Amino acid sequence: MADQQYDLVVIGSGPGGYVCAIRAAQLGMKVACVEKRETLGGTCLNVGCIPSKALLQSSEKFDEVRHHLAAHGVKVTGVELDLKGMLGHKDKVVTDNTNGVAFLFKKHKIDWVKGAGRVAGAGKVAVALNGGGERTLATKNVVVATGSDVAPLPGVAIDEKKIVSSTGALALAEVPKRFVVIGGGYIGLEMGSVWRRLGAEVTVVEFLDRILPGMDAEISKHMQRVMSKQGFAFKLGTKVAAAKTTNRGVLLTLEPAKGGAGEELVADVVLVAIGRRPYTESLGLKEAGVALDDKGRIKTDAHFASNVPGIYAIGDVIAGPMLAHKAEDEGVAVAEIIAGQAGHVNYDAIPGVVYTWPEAASVGKTEEQLKTEDVAYKSGKFPFTANGRARAMNTTDGFVKILADKTTDRILGVHIIGPDAGHLIAEVVLAMEFGASAEDIARTCHAHPTLSEAVKEAALAVDGRPLHI
Ligand code: FAD
Ligand code: NAI
Repeated sequence: MADQQYDLVVIGSGPGGYVCAIRAAQLGMKVACVEKRETLGGTCLNVGCIPSKALLQSSEKFDEVRHHLAAHGVKVTGVELDLKGMLGHKDKVVTDNTNGVAFLFKKHKIDWVKGAGRVAGAGKVAVALNGGGERTLATKNVVVATGSDVAPLPGVAIDEKKIVSSTGALALAEVPKRFVVIGGGYIGLEMGSVWRRLGAEVTVVEFLDRILPGMDAEISKHMQRVMSKQGFAFKLGTKVAAAKTTNRGVLLTLEPAKGGAGEELVADVVLVAIGRRPYTESLGLKEAGVALDDKGRIKTDAHFASNVPGIYAIGDVIAGPMLAHKAEDEGVAVAEIIAGQAGHVNYDAIPGVVYTWPEAASVGKTEEQLKTEDVAYKSGKFPFTANGRARAMNTTDGFVKILADKTTDRILGVHIIGPDAGHLIAEVVLAMEFGASAEDIARTCHAHPTLSEAVKEAALAVDGRPLHI
C-alpha cells in the first residue's frame, strides 16, 4: 500500500536532485527526495566538488606560504603541514554544506526519505529504508537524479587505500611519496595538485596524447607546461595494463597506447581517474521499461522526459557534461516543466572550470570544434603578463582567448587559463546568454586594475585593437 500521494518524488539528493526538490516545492508541489547516503548533497557535496575544493584551497595556501610569499617581501619560516587539521577543515566544510541542504529541505517542507529508491511501476517509488523495511511512495511524477560513479579500469582494482578513486584521494592519512594519477582530466589534475603541493612526486599517466582532452588544445598545452614547472611528470599516450600491490608499493605496468614495449612504474598511492559512469543500478528501470542510451545513460527528450510517462531524469545520469551546475540547472528546468512552465537549459553556455593553479575555464566551442564544424571565426588573445593586477599578484601565467563568428562577431567560445579563471568566465557566460558580440565586451567598462581587464583586452584583440599589447 502506498502511504502518501506526492506530486514529485526525486531519487537522489545531489545538486540535480536537491535543487529540483527545492524548485518544485517553491512551485507548490508536495515533494519527497529519496537518498540512500546518510547525508544530503550527493557526490558533489560529500565526495566531489566541495571537499576537493576545500583541499585545493587549503593546499594552495600552504604552497603560497612556502613558495610564493617571498617574492612579495614576506618572509615566513617554520612552515609545517598539519594534514589532520587540513582534512578536518575539509570535513567541516562538507558537514556545513550537507547540513545546509537538510535545513533547506525543512524550510521547504520536503520529505527526506532515507533509503534506496526504486521505480516500482507507474506512479510508485519503493524505498528500501536505511533503517530496515520498505516504504512505497505514490507520486504523480518521478525525477531520477542518481548521478554517477567512478569508471573502473580493468586490471587496476580500487581498494581505497593504495589504489584509490577520488573518494580515497580526498582522505589520505599521509602524503604519499610517489603519487601516480591515471587519467589527466579534471580529477587527476585537481587531486594531483593537492598532493603535489603537499609534497608528493606526482606522475600523470594519460591515454591520449594530451591532458584535458575536452578543453581547447592551447589551454591543455599551456596547462601541461605550467604543471611541469610545478614538478608534475606526464606520461602521455600511455595506458596502464596492470597494477599489483607489492611490499615496495604498487607496481604499475604501463604500455604505449599505440602498442610497443612497456615499462614499469612504482607508486605509493595510485589514483584512478579515467572518468565516471552513469549510476542506474538497482533502480528498477529495466522492469519499468525506461530506455537507456549506448553509454548506459537514461535517454531523455528536450524536456528531460524518459520514454515512460511521468518518469524524468537529470544530471550525471543523462547525457551532457558531468558538472554540478549543469545538474542544478536541469533540476530547476524539470521542476518548472512538470509545473507546466517553460523550463530550459542552454547547453551552449555551460562553463567548465578546472580548479588547479592556474585555473582553466572554458565555455562554448573550442578552436578545434570550430575548425571541424567549418565555422569561420576570429580569435583574440591577451596574456596575463600584460595585466597590471596579475603582475601585482605575481601570477602572470596564462591568457584569455575569445573566439567570435567572423561575420557577425557573436561570441562562440571563450577559453581562459590564469589566476581566478573560474570567476572570470562568468562574465562571458552571461554575455553568451545575451547573444553578445566580442565588441559588446570590448565596449563594456571594466574596473581597473582587475584581472577582468584581460577579458576586455582579448575582446579588443578579436578586432585587432588591444590597447596593452
Ligand atoms: P550526484 O551528485 O552523484 O548525486 C546522486 C545521489 O543519488 C547520490 O547521493 C547517491 O547516493 C544517490 N542515489 C543513487 N542511487 C540511489 C537510489 N537508488 N536511491 C536513493 N539515492 C540514490 N562538478 C562541478 O561542477 N564542479 C566541481 O568542482 C566538481 N568537482 C568534482 C570533484 C570530484 C572528486 C568528483 C567525483 C566530481 C566533481 N564534480 C564537479 C562533478 C559533480 O560532482 C557531479 O557532476 C554532480 O554531483 C552530479 O550531480 P547529480 O545530482 O547528477 O548526482
Ligand atoms: P575526465 O573525463 O575529466 O578525465 C579522464 C581522463 O582519463 C581523460 O583525459 C581520458 O583521456 C583519460 N583516460 C581514459 N581512459 C584512460 C586509461 N585507460 N588510461 C589513462 N587515461 C585514461 O574524468 P575524471 O577526471 O575522472 O572526472 C570525471 C568527471 O567529473 C569529469 O569529466 C567532470 O565532469 C567531473 N569533475 C569536474 C570537476 C570540475 O568541474 N572542476 C572536478 C572533478 C570532476
